Amino acid sequence: MSENTVHLDLGSGPTGLDVYQSTVGQPGFDIRKLRATTGYVTFDPGFGNTASAHSSITYIDGAAGVLLHRGYRIEDLAQQCSFLEISYLLLYGSLPTAAELATWTDQIGSQTLLNEEMRSFFDAFPRRSHPMAVLASATNAISTFYDVYRRPMRADEIDAGARTLIAKLPTVASWAYKKSIGEPYVYPDAKLGYVENFLHMMFATPVEETTIDPVVVKALNVLLILHADHEMNCSTSTVRGVGSSRANMFTSVAAGMGALWGPLHGGANQAVIEMLQAIHDDPDATIESTIARAKDKNDEFRLMGFGHRVYSNYDPRARVLASFAEDVLARMGQDDPLLEIARELEAAALSDDYFVDHKLFPNVDYYSGIIFRALGFPLRMFTVLFAIGRLPGWIAHWMEMNLDPETRIMRPRQLYIGEPERPFPALDDR
Ligand code: CMC
Repeated sequence: MSENTVHLDLGSGPTGLDVYQSTVGQPGFDIRKLRATTGYVTFDPGFGNTASAHSSITYIDGAAGVLLHRGYRIEDLAQQCSFLEISYLLLYGSLPTAAELATWTDQIGSQTLLNEEMRSFFDAFPRRSHPMAVLASATNAISTFYDVYRRPMRADEIDAGARTLIAKLPTVASWAYKKSIGEPYVYPDAKLGYVENFLHMMFATPVEETTIDPVVVKALNVLLILHADHEMNCSTSTVRGVGSSRANMFTSVAAGMGALWGPLHGGANQAVIEMLQAIHDDPDATIESTIARAKDKNDEFRLMGFGHRVYSNYDPRARVLASFAEDVLARMGQDDPLLEIARELEAAALSDDYFVDHKLFPNVDYYSGIIFRALGFPLRMFTVLFAIGRLPGWIAHWMEMNLDPETRIMRPRQLYIGEPERPFPALDDR
């Protein structure tokens, strides 16, 4: 028997399945011909056991709680890099040299302006629109100003599309916010860095100067980096799936934003704060009753910001954020009662048999919202902030998928459990 083959016996003799090794982590075997050779399909709802592609962007060791981007530890990247540096790393595979970073920063900085016609697009939304809905719609709409529909896209067009999206998303995000609070849109300022510019567009008004606090800039830079990529998560798989039909990068990313918005994914950062606020405000909601509800299988409630498909250990991003939250609050001279509640809830969960047995730990969304609040962001913008952070990851995966000769249009099979063929009844006979 070959070392590079596993054998599956479905009753009529063994079928050989080629084994693929990973650089690090689990190997996989190739089932692409399984249905054709055996008549069987595999059953894997949520694709928890399915590798959908070869990828060299991000590696997670879920049992050890390790996250690497292009081989570098997230803790090192978060401490020592700028968000644009990480974006370059994710897209192009290596850290930029000083000269490459300067060019990349200039290229992004020079494209932050939206086409003026986009103003009327934002105007058309109802005032109370959730910024995530506006963000996804506007991301799709940006593509209408560019000739990105042509297939196959040339490499330089793909690079230009990536720069356009990274440059313009903070503008789109801040305009979505300004729309939701009825304030005038603020134009980007090319003199400012990526994070500073976003804060300027978020918080400046025509009547009031904004001073951009370096503590806020540094903290937001770290937060964006911690969200930058997470291999085949729901939104990234959506981006890849949509892109696999040869849809353009903008549309694929907009679809990913839709996936991110859900409370089981990026929407959890908003849901965590709502949960902590409810414990704070409701005299009947205690740490104990919240834990009890999360364990109750008859209750849909889950402990938001806890659990992960891949990590059976503490999420390394959450580990960074847990101490960072304290640090940021101290530097901002703030005291947030929700942080205290979050700490108590975490301690109660981590010493509870249910959470221990299920290997449920805090994930990235558990502490991020407390820091976003401290930095002055409103709750409805939290998932938008996640989206700005995740954008380079989505694009890197779209690019990798686009270049991969093994990419096929995403089209899973099913196990049909509906009616077998039956006679069609006329309307009067039903
Ligand atoms: N609270 C209570 N029980 C939980 C939780 C939780 N947060 N998460 C998982 N479980 C239980 C679940 O009930 C199931 O129990 P049992 O085996 O007894 O039926 C078991 O753990 C496995 O859960 P699952 O739903 O099959 O796991 P999954 O891998 O499909 O889901 C998850 C992962 C993140 C959706 C889930 O843990 C969850 O709903 N967490 C809360 C929402 C959240 O924080 N999402 C953010 C995810 S991380 C960042 C991101 O992607 O945006």
